[in-house]
Amino acid sequence: MPVKVLGISGSPHRHGNTEVLLDAFLAGVTEEGGEADKVILKDIEYSPCRGCNTCHKDGECIVKDQAIPLFDRILMMDCLAAASPIYSMGITAELKGLIDRAQYIWARKFILKTLYFTDDHVRSHKGIFISTAGLSWDNVFDAAFPAITAFFNTIGFEYYDNIIANEMDKYHGIRGHPTALKEAHAKGREVVRVLEALKRDVPDTD
Ligand SMILES: Cc1cc2nc3c(=O)[nH]c(=O)nc-3n(C[C@H](O)[C@H](O)[C@H](O)COP(=O)(O)O)c2cc1C
Repeated sequence: MPVKVLGISGSPHRHGNTEVLLDAFLAGVTEEGGEADKVILKDIEYSPCRGCNTCHKDGECIVKDQAIPLFDRILMMDCLAAASPIYSMGITAELKGLIDRAQYIWARKFILKTLYFTDDHVRSHKGIFISTAGLSWDNVFDAAFPAITAFFNTIGFEYYDNIIANEMDKYHGIRGHPTALKEAHAKGREVVRVLEALKRDVPDTD
């Protein structure tokens, strides 16, 4: 079975800096023999979490939109690349809105205790955060990391790495960046090799 990788793009800007960086990562995945696919969040219908807490009682989300089949799909992946540009020093509404909708999975884990991810499961499911930002500030991604950490933790993925590039204004976009696209491509190849080795060592029992 090939390593399955899903990229989710939270940028409202099609084929912009962040999606191009995600594409470079996914190209590396494919080149190494992995199976890569991409979902554009702005093109699917889902609403924000209502905070109704119904999921705390039965572990189900009452909002039956396209977020639910997307989470079903995410949970079947070996690797998830969550991509978002930095907007107002954080992730976009598209990605944050999806992350909040994972609350029913969080409720299964932490309230109802009907869902448990073993250490082996978490180790063999890798999450990668892909982001770009306009500014040169060292701390420009800092507000994004905790939300991504919470997301990967909820869905049982190890936060494996970041592929981030700032100073997009200076470089006039991701294609002008000296190293980012090459690094993203190499990271795609690397994660497939790492996951293949883990699959050999720990056969999937989920
Ligand atoms: C609404 C909005 C808010 C932004 N806020 C920030 C910001 O707070 N810090 C920053 O460094 N860049 C900010 N940017 C710049 C983007 O992060 C940057 O141009 C990014 O590469 C855009 O990626 P995209 O082409 O995938 O949309 C903002 C851009 C927009 C449109």
